Amino acid sequence: MSGQDGIVDAPWISAAQARNAEHIGREIEVRGWVRTRRDSKGGFSFVELNDGSCFGNLQIIAESSLPNYQADIHNLSAGSSIVARGIVQASQGGGQATELLAKQIRVLGIADPQDYPLQKKRHTLEKLREWAHLRPRTNTFGALTRVRNRLSQSVHQFFQEQGFYYINTPIITASDCEGAGQMFRVTTLPLDHLPLEKGKVDFSKDFFGKSSYLTVSGQLEAEIYATALGRVYTFGPTFRAENSNTSRHLAEFWMIEPEAAFFDLQDNMLLAEKFIKRLLRDLLDSCGEDMAFFEERIQPGVIASLRQVMEKPFEHLTYSDAIEILNSSGEKFEYPHAWGCDLQAEHERYLTEKHVRGPLVLYNYPKSIKPFYMRCNDDGRTVAAMDVLVPNVGEIIGGSQREERLDVLLSRLNEMQLQAEDYWWYIELRKFGTVPHSGFGLGFERVVQWVTGLGNIRDCIPFPRTPGSAEF
Ligand code: 4AD
Ligand code: MG
Repeated sequence: MSGQDGIVDAPWISAAQARNAEHIGREIEVRGWVRTRRDSKGGFSFVELNDGSCFGNLQIIAESSLPNYQADIHNLSAGSSIVARGIVQASQGGGQATELLAKQIRVLGIADPQDYPLQKKRHTLEKLREWAHLRPRTNTFGALTRVRNRLSQSVHQFFQEQGFYYINTPIITASDCEGAGQMFRVTTLPLDHLPLEKGKVDFSKDFFGKSSYLTVSGQLEAEIYATALGRVYTFGPTFRAENSNTSRHLAEFWMIEPEAAFFDLQDNMLLAEKFIKRLLRDLLDSCGEDMAFFEERIQPGVIASLRQVMEKPFEHLTYSDAIEILNSSGEKFEYPHAWGCDLQAEHERYLTEKHVRGPLVLYNYPKSIKPFYMRCNDDGRTVAAMDVLVPNVGEIIGGSQREERLDVLLSRLNEMQLQAEDYWWYIELRKFGTVPHSGFGLGFERVVQWVTGLGNIRDCIPFPRTPGSAEF
């Protein structure tokens, strides 16, 4: 028996394959890491092997007659890497369809139990963050990795099927898309010897000849392509230097940003809803074992709540109506919620968790709290913005219809004291064949957090970047 699917001439198969009853009776080889070893009174050992291919382990029976039983196998401990060859047989015990009766077990690398941190005892997620090099070997992070992978695949499948082109937008940029001033500077200037001009740092001497930053969003560049190719999307890393030590913020996170020409706000909201429902369907259809783990160990009820989301249309509320609801809620909030205030996490959570008990699309926000590019509504005080909020996490999507009218865009830039020269290319798109268009950004880790029920976004990305922390 040979050939891990798709890999030419590999002499071994995955644990996921070996756990399938169709292999019973065959001789196979598996390769992976030991999760546990138990010795039976009958003079043999059970070795649980995991190779990342599925949530479950492959149980290997190692009899004491194996030549290296006393020397190697009997000492195998968690974290050791092995190659095992043997016959797949129907499992004697419950919990799995098959097990491997070993003919040979080769130890590639031991993991000294005195030093290896991932012992049988359960560790807190906080502790595991300190071991980001080892945490993918735990059940939680194995499941998380497969869930992230499946969601990524669905992102591409969905947009490709809807006729969107995948484009790559720059990571280094000179423009602040969101206007929130939360950008990381990119520079090669010597920090201990800055070139000065009239007392200020002279960035014309910097690498790009002007101030440059890590991007907070690929939207402005996505708009360039949408106004040529119709429908495009990005899926890339974005960076925000907001010093908010919360369970929902990362300094580096991944965002999916579709942008579509001839889409108005309604079309945009519909696209967002279809997209989210598609992600959930694919996840529940193909990550059963992993999601069962999150249901059992992380957030009981999560699967049923996601199924409910798939079945019902999303609720919609204008910002103004949401403020009315908050005002008459009788709840005590820490932050003010008068018309014109930015909604805080506590307000968003009240609306989505208590008021609608499900996803909520909020739209038509005051223009004073939104970026320059959002389309002004006829009332003169709101813009065609839309956010999607979900229970437990809050905002997962922020988007809008874009201002396509040249004169209105110019007066908005002016109003917000932004320099039109800095956005000359963005402005030209409105001079040359302007069209209505819309788009949004979905925070990938926020979605991962929502669907797994994990309490902290730092556990929803392999290597979190947060204030004071860039190890690994
Ligand atoms: O609402 P935001 O700031 O929107 C934009 O950046 C637009 N330019 C997107 C667009 O229209 N193309 O961010 C979009 C989403 C948020 O809804 C949230 O899910 C996520 O990005 N997000 C973060 N996720 C993790 N950590 C942070 N610090 C985040 N900031 C925003
Ligand atoms: Mg937002």
